[in-house]
Amino acid sequence: MDDVLRRAPLFAALDDEAAAALRASMSEVTLNRGESVFHEGDPGDRLYVVIEGKIKLGRTSSDGRENLLAVLGPGEMFGELSLFDPGPRTATATALTESKLLGLGHEDLRPWLTGRPEVAEALLQAIARRLRRTNETMADLVFSDVPGRVAKALLDLSKRFGMPTDEGIHVAHDLTQEELAQLVGASRETVNKALADFASRGWIRLEARAVVLLDPERLARRSR
Ligand code: CMP
Repeated sequence: MDDVLRRAPLFAALDDEAAAALRASMSEVTLNRGESVFHEGDPGDRLYVVIEGKIKLGRTSSDGRENLLAVLGPGEMFGELSLFDPGPRTATATALTESKLLGLGHEDLRPWLTGRPEVAEALLQAIARRLRRTNETMADLVFSDVPGRVAKALLDLSKRFGMPTDEGIHVAHDLTQEELAQLVGASRETVNKALADFASRGWIRLEARAVVLLDPERLARRSR
């Protein structure tokens, strides 16, 4: 079985046999850049695990502005909120690169939640972790300035997508500057100014849809 799937929260607690049985009820979805799995407001009956690629979760405000809740990479899960709290999708899930997902119908998961408490516990843990992260993001929106939030977003992306190189950490985030601004919750102009400032200090080097973190420690200090 896929190593990535085996490490996902749903599977981490299962032995090989149980993992294979759960895997058998999942179906593969492939997406090109820009394709959406579902849209905010759709009825939802499946959750997904990212196997390859990157997925952005975005919301649109009533006046049409967009905000990114998260960018997910391999091993991460989404689409489970409508399982525990039936209701419409709370965000639109769109591929940032060619991506491969495995989908699991909520009804196929339900027997596992009751029959295998460790699966339920792993899901609760994943949701608890996300709540912590969301609380932190909320505090940053109130207490941190835009450069601080940009620094934090870059470090966060580097934890998911960073590759160490001689020079620093290469982070192929695949976000446009507009999307990076939506993730940070600020205007594109302000975010670009912060990025240019970091670059001129030698903390980062900008590339198309990627960034090299040359001095992650200084960035970390700026993010606090
Ligand atoms: P669902 O509401 O079914 O569809 C959208 C999904 O986005 C949602 O389930 C969660 O899995 C995911 N999601 C919602 N809010 C956040 C968040 N703050 N951080 C990460 N993922 C989220």
